[in-house]
Amino acid sequence: MKITVLNGSPRKENTSAMVDAFVEGAKEAGHEVEVLHVGKMKIAGCLGCEYCHTKGEGQCIQKDDWEKVLPAYKDCDMVIFASPIYYFTLTAQMQAAIQRIYCIGQPPKATKAAMLLSSASPGVYDGPIGQFKGYLAFTGLEDAGVITAVGDENKTEAKLAEIREFAKNL
Ligand SMILES: Cc1cc2nc3c(=O)[nH]c(=O)nc-3n(C[C@H](O)[C@H](O)[C@H](O)COP(=O)(O)O)c2cc1C
Repeated sequence: MKITVLNGSPRKENTSAMVDAFVEGAKEAGHEVEVLHVGKMKIAGCLGCEYCHTKGEGQCIQKDDWEKVLPAYKDCDMVIFASPIYYFTLTAQMQAAIQRIYCIGQPPKATKAAMLLSSASPGVYDGPIGQFKGYLAFTGLEDAGVITAVGDENKTEAKLAEIREFAKNL
């Protein structure tokens, strides 16, 4: 399977440790994985101008790092949304990347999706999980699961092993 991971963290810390564990497990199982660090990219939010659905024929009018993400999103069999929790939701960078999917609507090939979330406190996942469920209902993708890590949990071998196992058994 071709797996595209969108990492919404602007830092190489907690979420990225989860992503690294995911990549290790997925590669061990023979999957092809591409990680796009959208948290470090310059991607603006959707303008809602409908250029993509009219004259643009699927192309966004805004020229920014989204152009690096779109081919990987179009080509993958599975998409992973990995993000720290910022104010009870995904990072703004991740939200911008998700909104820009609007230009193609449905992913042409992907059949399933999962989420990796990192937070300081427990019980802060309702927003992102609700959004994820909405995304799955809209796209028809299968829910492969949500893995969360609170505080220093993602520095523990137990959590990283859980993520590796998850990636091996997709
Ligand atoms: C701007 C900002 C907002 C945050 N908001 C929350 C929050 O609402 N709830 C929470 O549990 N943690 C919150 N955190 C903590 C991060 O989610 C947590 O430290 C996470 O593991 C960071 O992952 P990262 O190293 O990949 O950025 C926030 C951190 C920042 C920088």
